[in-house]
Amino acid sequence: MMKFITVCTGNICRSPMAEGLLIDLFKDNPKIKIDSAGIMDYHPNSPPDKRAIKVMKKYGFDISHLRARQIKAEDLIPQENLIFAATSSHIQSLKQIKERVGGEAKIFLMREDKKIDLPDPWYGDIEDFESTFEILNKELLPFVRQLGVSS
Ligand code: 4NP
Repeated sequence: MMKFITVCTGNICRSPMAEGLLIDLFKDNPKIKIDSAGIMDYHPNSPPDKRAIKVMKKYGFDISHLRARQIKAEDLIPQENLIFAATSSHIQSLKQIKERVGGEAKIFLMREDKKIDLPDPWYGDIEDFESTFEILNKELLPFVRQLGVSS
């Protein structure tokens, strides 16, 4: 069973938005599990930010049922786990955990092709959440599609 895990800081803005897109992409493939997590445990069990829910809903994706959690060491263990991180600083934290536990999960940036960070919209306004959606749609989705895992 492959698992795709999107990761950001708080797991209430960028990663649940990315998770919503991947849930839709793989909705007909029961062998792929989609999940998300935060590096920090700032908002345990919280739903996504209202602005993230609103922008995703506008484009037809319901993420209101998702709940925030912190990344766990076991997320980094199976080689079937593919992790998509919002920024290079998240990647550094994930690699530290992976090395500590001898994990084999594969770690990518959400903007892997451009190798740049996805900015944090949390301190911004609705336009920043629109921009987050656009970037994920234009960059993360094509990258995930070309991995060759059938959706
Ligand atoms: P996210 O945004 O990492 O995209 O979920 C943030 C949400 C909350 C905080 C930081 C970033 N925070 O500091 O609480």
